[in-house]
Amino acid sequence: MTAGSMKRVGILTAGGDCPGLNAVIRAFVKTAEANCAWETVGILDGFEGFLVPDGIRALTGRDVRGILTLGGTILGTSNRCNPFAIRTVVEGNDRIEDQSSIVLDRIKELGLGALVVIGGDGSMAIGSRLAELGVPVVGVPKTIDNDLAATDVTFGFDTAVSTATDAIDRLRSTAEAHHRVMIIEVMGRNAGWIALEAGLAGGGDVILIPEIPFQVERVAEDIEARSRSGRTFSLVVVAEGAHLAGGMPITQRVGPDGFPRLGGVGVWLADEIGKHVHFEVRATVLGHVQRGGTPTAFDRVLATRLGSAAAWCVERGQFNRMVAVRGLDIVTVPLADAVRESRRVPPDGDKVMTARSLGVSFGD
Ligand code: F6P
Repeated sequence: MTAGSMKRVGILTAGGDCPGLNAVIRAFVKTAEANCAWETVGILDGFEGFLVPDGIRALTGRDVRGILTLGGTILGTSNRCNPFAIRTVVEGNDRIEDQSSIVLDRIKELGLGALVVIGGDGSMAIGSRLAELGVPVVGVPKTIDNDLAATDVTFGFDTAVSTATDAIDRLRSTAEAHHRVMIIEVMGRNAGWIALEAGLAGGGDVILIPEIPFQVERVAEDIEARSRSGRTFSLVVVAEGAHLAGGMPITQRVGPDGFPRLGGVGVWLADEIGKHVHFEVRATVLGHVQRGGTPTAFDRVLATRLGSAAAWCVERGQFNRMVAVRGLDIVTVPLADAVRESRRVPPDGDKVMTARSLGVSFGD
């Protein structure tokens, strides 16, 4: 890697992966190489690459050939590495350590004139803190959950919805054949966008989302009402973060990092509904299938536009901003705005109201 007269920019992917990350990396590197006097280096496994030996690699146009359609990220990612709060064990005791000074030293040592952070709200918050410490940061938003308020849409969401819709379509045929209630649990920690859109696209009969707390008896009643009107099966789409009125989301266990893992509401609901309906009830958990695979054409285009826009931000010195979508345009917003609020499903918004008009139950 030779710096020569070129300026150098670092790029990393942090947080949970999502389809389209490689398309962003490719667009960024190609735009920077063809139009800007910057060379790109990749930081591996999110911010962790700054904290370990061999955590950096050169990224040229040659390195990004053929990755447009690939899921995952060629740089690797981590959703458990916040350099401002690294969990260490000293003499058997857990300690939280601020290792951000190591990151700052590394950035200096590598001669990085800018850092591009492709991530969700957690990663943008870290980017924002680094920016406060003087690092010129450009953010690129990503999450399959589509819950960042500062952008109208994030890449990865369309692919996740397509995957979930395909699964609902498949469950429909077996539900119909066996006259069963099929529950499908999809991702969506605090926001029910995937459940809502896949539920609409797949013709779900019940959609349960974190924004609209539900009651088991209500869901069961609505399924029985469908049966009385001649329907011999039902499809229930539930977001992993959906919960009972006055209750909390179901978590499976706390991981070694101390974070609770969401999930389990589908299987729990199958047991509960099964007590009240005369159908057999089965649950399918879609899980990380939604995060993998090749991005849809929509996500490829969006990721390419955002990656290229980020390179132009670096070239023009527009730092401490995140590229975002507003209507049909790509714009930039202050990084700080990116983490200020999340975008949840409005319970009286048009998508929920449309579903209700069609007779979809939200279990409330
Ligand atoms: O943020 C996206 C997301 O898909 C959430 O909906 C989900 O709860 C989480 O990632 C799971 O992440 P992981 O299993 O990688 O910790």
